[in-house]
Amino acid sequence: MTLSPGDEDLIRVASLARARAYAPYSTYKVGAAIRTKRNKIHSGANVENVSYGMTVCAERCAAFAAVASGETADWDAIAIVIDDDKLPSPCGACRQVLAEFSPDLRVVLATTSGLRDATTLRALLPDPFLPDRLPR
Ligand code: THU
Repeated sequence: MTLSPGDEDLIRVASLARARAYAPYSTYKVGAAIRTKRNKIHSGANVENVSYGMTVCAERCAAFAAVASGETADWDAIAIVIDDDKLPSPCGACRQVLAEFSPDLRVVLATTSGLRDATTLRALLPDPFLPDRLPR
């Protein structure tokens, strides 16, 4: 999928967030930024903990920042940035959390060295478990 100038803007915000990642244990710093249809951007970085299991990924930090700002739907895109020789791949837990709010999200993948790709959350998480599956 081709990238738009708006995607590059989102990647820049995700890169700035990545610089604030707290990842002393893995040293794997990740930045994420979500653009909503109201054109607001919410960013996040991974936050690790000495107990390891309490770690929260960058994608979920960005998602929760959007929710905490009152934006719980209609997200356009998320950009995810790492410093590696291959593109990032959001973990399964983050795919599920993103699907809760915007199952048709565009997912922009980037590295600090300039690798780029774009895909969709539908491609990354086909047949997601969504609220309409719960009995009413
Ligand atoms: N991590 C993310 O922030 N996003 C991902 O998509 C994959 C993994 C974080 C969690 C942990 O702090 C570090 O990367 C190594 O797993």
